[in-house]
Amino acid sequence: MFSLKGKSAIITGGGSGIGKAISVLFAKQGAKVHIIELNADAAQQTVTEIEAEGGAATAYGCDVSNQEAVVNTFNQIGEIDILVNNAGIAHIGKADTTSEEDFTKVFNVNVKGAYNCLYAAIPALKKSRSGVILNMASIAAVVGITDRFAYSMSKGAIFAMTLSVARDYMADGIRCNSISPARVHTPFVDGFIAKNYAGQEAEVFEKLSKSQPVGRMGKPEEVASLALYLCSEEAGFITGNDYPLDGGFIKLNN
Ligand SMILES: NC(=O)c1ccc[n+]([C@@H]2O[C@H](COP(=O)([O-])OP(=O)(O)OC[C@H]3O[C@@H](n4cnc5c(N)ncnc54)[C@H](O)[C@@H]3O)[C@@H](O)[C@H]2O)c1
Repeated sequence: MFSLKGKSAIITGGGSGIGKAISVLFAKQGAKVHIIELNADAAQQTVTEIEAEGGAATAYGCDVSNQEAVVNTFNQIGEIDILVNNAGIAHIGKADTTSEEDFTKVFNVNVKGAYNCLYAAIPALKKSRSGVILNMASIAAVVGITDRFAYSMSKGAIFAMTLSVARDYMADGIRCNSISPARVHTPFVDGFIAKNYAGQEAEVFEKLSKSQPVGRMGKPEEVASLALYLCSEEAGFITGNDYPLDGGFIKLNN
């Protein structure tokens, strides 16, 4: 079950955290993995780890917010069966404390970046006739989270794009779903704690862990397992859905 043998998969942001765990697991399941990353060295590190385990992967340095670069990279890759739109950045702020510059940056990476990859991937996925798209949303798409104005906006857009794409390309055999994690322990989380809560790191880490009723953050590998299922042939009946992976955050936080 859950074999990706013979499949070609593009994973954005595969140099770190969730994208890295997905890249490693997909390669283990037989996929040829293509990692699209702003941080080319980090992507190459993931490739080295995959190759050491006998898997196949290639790294491409590319900023997903730059459409020309994305189209050129996808053209270089050629045939694909799976796109995982995972690259994303965090931001802390409310509507009146988010600068125009920060708002635009979050939009360009998290929203336009996903659109650019959809734009470039769909012609190849149509040819595959069993194409799969998986978008990384967040619980912030559907729950009001304090101080996450721009970030929540971007993940709400991911949720809406998932529905639109699932509808528009159903006749082409393309499935499109999203995963909405609550807090997952990755460099993304450590980075924004260090940047925004200097001196209170341990306290904030504890608070963020407890905001999931199960009392801990998720693991990147736990997101990767669900990603594998949703991108596998076993999930052939699933399209146009979002899957919370949240330690009880959405429904049990009372
Ligand atoms: N960690 C969490 O708690 C959490 C929760 C919900 C959703 N998510 C989402 O999961 C995804 C991955 O998060 P993570 O925690 O693994 O983050 P991470 O920071 O560990 O990894 C993200 C990767 O994306 C890459 N990236 C950033 N901007 C890019 C760009 N413009 N072009 C190409 N690559 C770029 C980074 O270099 C990095 O390697 C993000 O979309 C994030 O919003 C994370």
